[in-house]
Amino acid sequence: MTTITVCTTCRTAEEREDRTLPPSGEAFLLELQAASGSGVAVRGTSCLMGCDHGCNIAVSDHGKLTYVLGRFGGSAEDAAAVSAFADGHAASATGQVPFRQWPQGVKGHFIARVPPLD
Ligand code: FES
Repeated sequence: MTTITVCTTCRTAEEREDRTLPPSGEAFLLELQAASGSGVAVRGTSCLMGCDHGCNIAVSDHGKLTYVLGRFGGSAEDAAAVSAFADGHAASATGQVPFRQWPQGVKGHFIARVPPLD
C-alpha cells in the first residue's frame, strides 16, 4: 500500500530560526491523516535526515518508486496536495506520477526520487 511517511520532528525555516517555536511535523502528520483516504497509509517517524529543508515526507510502496518531498509548512493545503500526489502513486503500477497529474502544491517540493530495489 502506498504510504506517506511524515517526519514528526521537522521544523519549517521559521522554526529552525526561532527554536522557541514548536516543530510543525507532528501537526503535519495529523493534517495528512485527515486528508488521506483509505487507499493510502500515513505514518510518522522522527527525522528523515533532511532537517535543513523541513517539513519532509516520503511517499513509497513495495516495488515502486519512492519520492521524498520537503519544504512544506505543514498546512491543510500542503496535506491535500501530498495526499493527491499519493493517490496518483497508489494508482500507478510503478509509482511514477506523470507531471501533468502533479498537484500544484507539490511542485517545487521534490527532494529525491529513489528507484525500487530489484
Ligand atoms: S527533523 Fe525532519 S528530517 Fe530531521
